[in-house]
Amino acid sequence: EKIRDFRATLLQWYDENKRDLPWRSTSDPYYIWVSEIMLQQTQVDTVIPYYKRFIETLPTIEDLAKASEETLLKLWEGLGYYSRVRNMNVAANQILEKHEGKFPTAHKDVLNLKGIGPYTAGAVTSIAFNQPQPAVDGNVMRVLSRLFEIDLDISKASTRKVFEEMIRRLIDPDRPGDFNQALMDLGATICTPKNYSPENSPVKEFNASYLNESWEKYPVKKKK
Ligand code: ADE
Repeated sequence: EKIRDFRATLLQWYDENKRDLPWRSTSDPYYIWVSEIMLQQTQVDTVIPYYKRFIETLPTIEDLAKASEETLLKLWEGLGYYSRVRNMNVAANQILEKHEGKFPTAHKDVLNLKGIGPYTAGAVTSIAFNQPQPAVDGNVMRVLSRLFEIDLDISKASTRKVFEEMIRRLIDPDRPGDFNQALMDLGATICTPKNYSPENSPVKEFNASYLNESWEKYPVKKKK
């Protein structure tokens, strides 16, 4: 049926076109966590060398927990939003104290770590542990708004939960991490904020705003 067809089409496109990114050759939750935190406010191309240096310098959660302020600052210098790495250092110590140094697998335990919100918890548990959790950021909201002609304002905080519920129904139960990353890649490469050409989309046959020629209205984003 239609949802299964959508998943298969999206994942086939992902398999053939996915970007070759260093955090995609691991399923270590620590490395995936590092990548997702860096990617929150920084472009993929900028993140790559920072990511490599970070995991080479601090290859384990224990290394991160014990790292000096000076080491952390140096590893983050140029990325900005230094609180991101300070929170990671706090979270690494939480993991040592509460989870015996092993990154927790339960979604609720991941959410309790310092600096980890719904997006990051969903990204790490779906990618590292194959759990069917949504990872909804602005890019995913743009993709879904266009696919289903969603009129909700994506700049409103309460909107994210609605999209999370949509993803819970849509997500591929066998490949949840790839499904989430396929939506991220679609948002980064085809379903872009500017110069959007829906006829190039691998899932155009499922795209209501393409079929109805209404895509210029989406996503709805009211200026604050
Ligand atoms: N942006 C945020 N997370 C990402 C991921 N895992 N792959 C590609 N882009 C991303």
